[in-house]
Formats: sequence, C-alpha cells, structure tokens
Amino acid sequence: MLLEKNVKHYKELESTQKLAREKIEELENGTVILADRQTLGYGTKERKWYTGDGNNIAMTIVIKPNCTIKSLSTLTIDIAASIQRAIYTLYGYSLKIKEPNDLLLNNKKICGILTQVTTRKEQVQSLLIGIGFNVNETIFDSDTKILATSLKKEYQKEFSREEIIKQILKEIELQLKSNYIL
Ligand code: BTN
Repeated sequence: MLLEKNVKHYKELESTQKLAREKIEELENGTVILADRQTLGYGTKERKWYTGDGNNIAMTIVIKPNCTIKSLSTLTIDIAASIQRAIYTLYGYSLKIKEPNDLLLNNKKICGILTQVTTRKEQVQSLLIGIGFNVNETIFDSDTKILATSLKKEYQKEFSREEIIKQILKEIELQLKSNYIL
C-alpha cells in the first residue's frame, strides 16, 4: 500500500499539518507525517487540538492529486467513513459521523479531520488530510465544547496505535483510489 511506504515518524512536532504545509514542495505524493506529540496542534477554525505523549494518533497525509476542487466536495465525509470502517473492522465498534469533520463514540468526540487544499485556478495542487484520533488518552481539556473521549476511556483497556494507523491508512487509500484521487 502506497500510504504505508512513506511514513515520517516524529517524537514531537508543533503540528504535523504545519510541517506538511511548510515542506509541501519537497514532500512526495502519499507521504504520511506522524507525531507522538504535538505542541501546537490545531483543528478547524484554528481551534487547539491536544495530542500528548504517544497516547493518540496525530497524522497528516500528503496527496498531490490530479483533480479539480469540485471533485473533492465529499472528501472529508469519505475520510470519516474510511476511519469508521477501520474501527469497525478491527474491533466491531460503531463510530458516528458528525458532519462535516468529526467522529463520535457514545456521543463524545473521538476523532477530528482537517482537510486543506492548495489550488491553482480550479486545479488542486496539494491536499492535506489531518487526522487526530484519541486512542489511549485519559486527560481531556475541560474547555473543549464537545465532550471528548478515547477508545481507552470508553473500554478501559489499551489499544495499539500502530494497528489502528495501519487500518486507517489502508481504508483511506482504498477510498482515495476509488475516487481517482490517488
Ligand atoms: C477538528 O476537529 O477540528 C480537526 C482536528 C484535526 C487535528 C489533526 S491532528 C494531526 C493534524 N495536525 C494538526 O495540527 N491538526 C491535525
């Protein structure tokens, strides 16, 4: 699978999304930037996104597609559905999609998606898919508007980040291929 081949793994970054944006010219199609910890992670509307100490998944997938902006209209929902399938396949848990870019477990937010594109006229130059998924987190910011959760918090056991990352990348790759984006 293309997305598993080029994973750049960092212990700590300000933000995988920020790094991807800064280095976009030199990053190859299909690169995945992964961080154990983010010090300045952010979400939609520049909201803070906390990822601490190897407990969660913080990654940005870099795609350089040959497509127009119009063809990406359902992209974030498609990515949410891919993550939903990944978790169902691994554990049989049903996450709920809260449009446009959240996934909920037991009505609490477990995953946020941040998709960003650069374009030249109608043509997409780069597509960044940022994913923050709470795996083994136990500490949650009390001022988050939507109540947050993690797999560990809901099921009182540790989960393998690697296993989840692999399955999510597999499902996203299939999805992007079926949309002719990859
Ligand atoms: C949201 O819920 O608003 C989207 C959250 C997206 C967070 C991810 S974590 C990996 C990537 N790096 C960031 O700084 N943000 C995204």
